[in-house]
Amino acid sequence: MGVILGIESTAHTFSFGGVYTNGKTISSSSALFRPEQGGIHPREAADHHSVLSGSLFKEFISKNKIPVNQIDAIAFSQGPGLGPCLRVGASVARSLADKIGKPLIGVNHCVAHIEIGRLQTGCLDPVLLYVSGGNTQVIARNGNRYRVIGETLDIGIGNMLDKFARTQGIPFPGGPKIEKLSAEWLKEKSSARLDDIILPYGVQGMDLSFSGILTAAIQKVADGHNLQEVCWSLQEHSFSACIEVAERALAHTGKNELLLGGGVACNERIREMSQLMCKERGAGAFWPEKQYCVDNGTMIAELGRKMLKHNIHTKLVDSAIDPSMRTDHAEVVWD
Ligand code: ATP
Ligand code: FE2
Repeated sequence: MGVILGIESTAHTFSFGGVYTNGKTISSSSALFRPEQGGIHPREAADHHSVLSGSLFKEFISKNKIPVNQIDAIAFSQGPGLGPCLRVGASVARSLADKIGKPLIGVNHCVAHIEIGRLQTGCLDPVLLYVSGGNTQVIARNGNRYRVIGETLDIGIGNMLDKFARTQGIPFPGGPKIEKLSAEWLKEKSSARLDDIILPYGVQGMDLSFSGILTAAIQKVADGHNLQEVCWSLQEHSFSACIEVAERALAHTGKNELLLGGGVACNERIREMSQLMCKERGAGAFWPEKQYCVDNGTMIAELGRKMLKHNIHTKLVDSAIDPSMRTDHAEVVWD
């Protein structure tokens, strides 16, 4: 059976993954760029990706016993993302496609988060709460487009968590450590109360914002509040804001499935909040396995598989990357 290869390189992660033509997923081989200090420098991340691309590809095909002639198409993240990082993935995709004489498929990274979630969970027409480092969007399908019906007006929620963590000496990625510290606080203080530590709540209509809560949380620690308590309150406030907008999106669109995607969807608390909200309104809450919440090549392959089924290929002249590609840029012709 044929395999669609997927290459992910929008930011920190460089990853090869695959999906068989029947929809069976093949776990990704991934490498994460972790800056020694500070935030991500796009050039340094791109250098990391290009140095590792050859060995990672070999690892992926040998670990999964995929002969190169079994590959039917090469899908890659065409945008959105950091230009230098995207360029590495696109170059690798172009040269592989040329070498094996198979089609190239440029895919929209955000839409890939939706399609891997639909494949894994079986939900049909969800509202997606897409919560990652770089993006925070609430998305729903309307006809042949995935429309963004709410989004952050400043930074992504994961980026906010990472930035807060960095100010506390916690290295990237900060989200998992913040989750751990919050759980410790709850264990210690079974009667933790939000009134004790209120942070700004950034909901504006259907949109969100996280830079205010970031500044306020840093200030709370500087004022002497316990770090674990601030982490807990940070999660409670920022996740509630996302869930509020997601609930309104369900109400406005009349849909009854909520799908989580993006790295922050690994968090058990945001999953629990989604489930609680959905239960109250008789809807279903879904999320893919953690390996498919974070950036990965398999999700790129899955969107490539759906596009290939509909004969959508990307000509070499059209394969330039687009760092600011929008979610509703892609025409959705598949079911
Ligand atoms: P995108 O290009 O879609 O914006 P990304 O480059 O941010 O994606 P992802 O792998 O989707 O990459 O998400 C990484 C983010 O997820 C980081 O900000 C990280 O802190 C956050 N994250 C990962 N695990 C958890 C967790 N358990 N709780 C909270 N945040 C988490
Ligand atoms: Fe992503």
